[in-house]
Amino acid sequence: MIHPFQHHNHDQGPKPNALVRIEHLAITFDKPVLRDVSLDIHKGETVAVLGKSGTGKSVLLKLIVGLLTPDSGKIFFKDKEVTALGEFGLMDIRSDIGFLFQGAALFDSMTVGQNLDLFLVKHTDLPPKEREQKIAAALEMVQLQEAIDKMPSELSGGMKKRAGLARSIVIEPELMLYDEPTTGLDPVTASSIAELIVTLQQQLGIASLVVTHDLPTAFTVSDRAMVLNEGYAIFEGELKDLEKSEDAFLHEYLAASRLDRERHDRILRARERALAATQNPKAATKGTARGSETDVKVLT
Ligand SMILES: Nc1ncnc2c1ncn2[C@@H]1O[C@H](COP(=O)(O)OP(=O)(O)O)[C@@H](O)[C@H]1O
Ligand SMILES: [Mg+2]
Repeated sequence: MIHPFQHHNHDQGPKPNALVRIEHLAITFDKPVLRDVSLDIHKGETVAVLGKSGTGKSVLLKLIVGLLTPDSGKIFFKDKEVTALGEFGLMDIRSDIGFLFQGAALFDSMTVGQNLDLFLVKHTDLPPKEREQKIAAALEMVQLQEAIDKMPSELSGGMKKRAGLARSIVIEPELMLYDEPTTGLDPVTASSIAELIVTLQQQLGIASLVVTHDLPTAFTVSDRAMVLNEGYAIFEGELKDLEKSEDAFLHEYLAASRLDRERHDRILRARERALAATQNPKAATKGTARGSETDVKVLT
């Protein structure tokens, strides 16, 4: 079907392999937010977008799905120029893009299952039976099968994120956009969500853009990152090269993040120890002959 508002552009488009191409994006509200931002995201790739609060990270995601229109610059998704699409065209590309908003944004008056079903009805023509199967598969993917009949208010913060994630992937997107997926979660839950993002990428081959101000999350989910500051990408490349950068802002940013990271690592190590203890309770039980023996062996 040809939509009346859909413009066609045969001259330009993403490079082969680039799923998303962002070219010289600029947008000003009260003041310039993005001044000149370009980025390619390839099939199956995860890229982290870092930057302080208010640097336009959420704005960037909204631009990609056409919830905002840039003042200048272009965005391509597959063969389509998002920035030239009308509402019908945008609805079409949004069926290929999953968006995990900052608040999980589930409808409070519906169960988790109903939330997922509504999303499928909106974005697909699937009959009820197939929708049911897809809902079960998506919930299984995020290990939330048992919550299908629960109301959002009955879920913990981490479970809400998982439910929101299940809703995003139930339409089987080619691209996932995550807006601060681990913010507001305790470090253990945060790292389990970060690990889930990796699983989705590896098992479903979904490309992802992960907006975060949390460096540990960025390191878990991706190798490549872009750092935004004052409207520009002040860094783009391998995360491991971030530390090598001479940029003064990046140094300050990394120093602040490093403290977070150390705290995060400490908590993770404690979790691993606790997990090892439950898997091997005898080794952890003090006072029994075997327990003491094990302790001694560990010490020597
Ligand atoms: N729809 C909007 N209208 C006006 N200003 C906006 C709008 N969306 C975002 N902004 C402004 O743009 C700047 C960047 O916002 P945002 O992308 O949410 O930052 P963050 O990097 O924390 O996600 C902020 O100053 C914000 O107030
Ligand atoms: Mg934001």
